[in-house]
Amino acid sequence: MIKWDDSYSVSYDGIDEQHKILISIIQEVETAINDDSYSFKGLIEVLNRLEEYIKVHFSYEEALMTKYDYPEKDQHFTEHNELRFKILSTNLDYIEKSKDFYTETYTYLFNWLINHIMKIDKKLALFLVDKNA
Ligand SMILES: [Fe+2]
Ligand SMILES: [Fe+2]
Repeated sequence: MIKWDDSYSVSYDGIDEQHKILISIIQEVETAINDDSYSFKGLIEVLNRLEEYIKVHFSYEEALMTKYDYPEKDQHFTEHNELRFKILSTNLDYIEKSKDFYTETYTYLFNWLINHIMKIDKKLALFLVDKNA
């Protein structure tokens, strides 16, 4: 079940706000797939929005890491780049695939995101709070 939970909070408002938006767009993907009025066009519209927002969010965190010279920047950038590459190579809007395929895709994204938030983003947030950023 795709839903924001307060345990996902990294206790840094700017990052939490964007994570909430990301999760709500993933929820929209879930809805778009399971909706009675499903259309490939509608689904692609939401997936494109998700892709765009992932870019916005990663750039936001990366700018903070650069600005405050975060010591674990390289590892964090590498994780972001792995997901960027995965999204690029998925070619989501190339040709219509099964609903199972899209379900697997958004489930993967959601799990990736939660895992990343809990391990990698939380560390960054602690650092930023410490720097009064
Ligand atoms: Fe991150
Ligand atoms: Fe993040």
